[in-house]
Amino acid sequence: MKEVKIESILLVYDGIEELPDEVKSLMEAAQKARKNAYAPYSNFLVGAALMLDNGEIITGNNQENASYPSGLCAERTAIYYAGAQFPDAKILKMALTAGPADSQTNTPVPPCGACRQAIAEYEVKQEQPIEIYFMGTVGKVAKSGSLSDLLPLIFDRSLLK
Ligand code: THU
Repeated sequence: MKEVKIESILLVYDGIEELPDEVKSLMEAAQKARKNAYAPYSNFLVGAALMLDNGEIITGNNQENASYPSGLCAERTAIYYAGAQFPDAKILKMALTAGPADSQTNTPVPPCGACRQAIAEYEVKQEQPIEIYFMGTVGKVAKSGSLSDLLPLIFDRSLLK
């Protein structure tokens, strides 16, 4: 028997003004997208913005449904749109902001497990890491250099053989 240690390193910025300019703009796009979230059941609004290697910025937000499981998270709304519209483009960076509609939080909100699995699929597909920046609604922003830092031991295509 041996012990296997898994470590991830995240960077934490004090606020969006500390981010590199292009990432700050990407986070601002996510903040704008968050305002259009359709979340009448949870009142928890999430915005996502993706920067593609072809220069496109793709945004998405959570879309809820009276049949709760039929709704979709912001991250997957954005990433599936990118995959559908620009199948050959690589996703370089992703910015996420999330929090309740009626209060502010400075706790960075990471993507949920299902979204991590979806993002992992595209990281494997494009053979290049996706930088993920995530925040609450104000203050601190966390950065992971790759989805694999948020989801070690991913289930991917290599295991299907
Ligand atoms: N949500 C997201 O959009 N992304 C996540 O990573 C976590 C959760 C949404 C789903 C639902 O509309 C609301 O936030 C509350 O869970």
